Amino acid sequence: MSAALIDGKTYATALRQRLRKRVDQLRASHGIVPGLAVVLVGEDPASQVYVRSKSKASLEAGLNSFEHKLPADTTEDELLDLLDQLNADDAVDGILVQLPLPKAIDAGAVIDAIDPDKDVDGFHLINVGLLATGEPGLVPCTPMGCELLLRAGVPSLAGLHAVIIGRSNIVGKPLAQLLLRADCTVTMAHSKTRDLPALCQTADILVAAVGKPEMVRGAWIKPGAIVIDVGINRVVGKDGTMRLVGDVAFAEAVPIAAAITPVPGGVGPMTIACLLENTFTAACRRRDIDPDTI
Ligand code: GUN
Repeated sequence: MSAALIDGKTYATALRQRLRKRVDQLRASHGIVPGLAVVLVGEDPASQVYVRSKSKASLEAGLNSFEHKLPADTTEDELLDLLDQLNADDAVDGILVQLPLPKAIDAGAVIDAIDPDKDVDGFHLINVGLLATGEPGLVPCTPMGCELLLRAGVPSLAGLHAVIIGRSNIVGKPLAQLLLRADCTVTMAHSKTRDLPALCQTADILVAAVGKPEMVRGAWIKPGAIVIDVGINRVVGKDGTMRLVGDVAFAEAVPIAAAITPVPGGVGPMTIACLLENTFTAACRRRDIDPDTI
């Protein structure tokens, strides 16, 4: 057996093309162009790349893009002032503050200063609570992308045992809520979990979101399982060149799993596509328009 590749790149491209049409329709029917403000503090090279690609993708989808680049010595008060302005700006429907923030700034206070209706990352405590109680809110982008990829390949998730390795607020915890909502039986695993390989072997859906290159070995995977690899790790190969690998030992997993997301080209491209979707959703809901009607 050889696992089917879950092609996130193609899926994300289709999602973005569909969104472009919906953005055009929203402009024609309501005169609204959704706007996304992305805030970057400091000069972290990886964050700069992410922010640039988020802005570029926004423009390609027909959204307005507002980039705010602040120096590394920006104070928390200065950042909170900017967020006040963005919250009050009607042209801004989505606000994303790129993480991590410099150490002197309390990320929790910053996230909680974002208007929950514009919180396209889904990190505000209000959105965390709405997700946990099954109410409509804004859902974090990477978990949302994972769920869409799973639903594209599996007709019903009900009753399946999902094991999620990694308990981050950005991926593991919100994905657990989404999969619970989809009627999976969900087990959260983490660095203190006992006998992780044995637990993983019980998973119909195995999600790795830990940031450790190729930690999940082929022997941990139940034959026929679906494997979602959220990890994006830069490693130096034997020939000295840099390459990207996931949290799953891909070559070992392929003969055992039924389906697997590759790295790159799996979950990664879905994150930006879902960010654009969330911006569209926020623009509609802020004006009492049902986004599903557009
Ligand atoms: N840094 C790494 N991932 C993310 C994300 O999903 N959102 C934000 N705001 N920052 C990040």
